Amino acid sequence: MKRIRFKGKTVLITGASSGIGKALSLEFAKRGANLALGSIPDEKDILSQWAEELESKHGITTWTFPIDLLEEGGPERLHKEVTERVGTPFAFVNNAGTVAYGKFWEKPWERQFMTFQLNLSIPMKLMYLFLPDMVKKGEGTIYNTCSVSGLQPTPFQSVYGATKAGLESLSRGVRAELTGTGVTVCALCPPYIDTRLLKMDGYPEDLRFFTISGKKSPQWLAKKALPAFEKRKLIYVPGFSAKLLHIFLLRLSPRWMVDMVSRFTLQGWSQKP
Ligand SMILES: NC(=O)c1ccc[n+]([C@@H]2O[C@H](COP(=O)([O-])OP(=O)(O)OC[C@H]3O[C@@H](n4cnc5c(N)ncnc54)[C@H](OP(=O)(O)O)[C@@H]3O)[C@@H](O)[C@H]2O)c1
Repeated sequence: MKRIRFKGKTVLITGASSGIGKALSLEFAKRGANLALGSIPDEKDILSQWAEELESKHGITTWTFPIDLLEEGGPERLHKEVTERVGTPFAFVNNAGTVAYGKFWEKPWERQFMTFQLNLSIPMKLMYLFLPDMVKKGEGTIYNTCSVSGLQPTPFQSVYGATKAGLESLSRGVRAELTGTGVTVCALCPPYIDTRLLKMDGYPEDLRFFTISGKKSPQWLAKKALPAFEKRKLIYVPGFSAKLLHIFLLRLSPRWMVDMVSRFTLQGWSQKP
């Protein structure tokens, strides 16, 4: 299969006003893609400013969609507005997400359920809404922002890991179903990236795992992700240390050891056990 050339193609990115989504939008813009950018309504002005900057620096066209995906009917509204104003996008990055840190049963249920919705049921619904038209057009790719956290259990962020494992499984399953349609699904599995996500909801700044793996920048990730996107890689884990830890060592280690190491490394150094 030929490499995708994004020049002149339309790419929809959710969660594009900060972090990974913002960095990915820059790399798409550098390649000449026109961008439909989503964010929560509160970030409307920041998103518009970013979209204008991308237009003026890279000579592309942008559209903004400040829509709360967690609101009743949010995914349907995004689908309707994008389809009416832009048409069916060539590519779609399911990127908006959140994390809840703490013991599973001690976090408010509403917070756990919101993590489940934003990270799994909403991306699933968006795929469900956009895929029929993409299949009709016979071209395009959905990129799901999963995580290395979906490749093994993640104590203290168990719901997060479960949603990312679910999204990766969904990506693989639907990709197989799409064989021969010209449309495909890819899963991006980043390691720890220094964004707002790792500062929210009690996330420990001194997580033991950071001592092993460090934190990469969103720009580092986006520069690595785009070539993988162009090649339509099914599952892409960027960086040598992430591949070593989350693919190679994981396959060699017994489950009890993975669970024990996960429990130790996913707590802060200053946290009481
Ligand atoms: N950081 C990491 O270590 C890491 C590692 C692997 C995977 N990921 C995944 O990468 C994705 C992006 O996260 P990030 O690290 O870049 O964190 P981030 O900067 O907090 O980005 C999250 C994005 O989701 C958007 N969002 C949140 N709630 C929303 C809602 N209700 N409706 C619409 N959009 C909403 C936010 O929009 P606003 O900016 O408008 O608030 C924001 O742009 C997530 O799916 C995350 O799970 C992150």
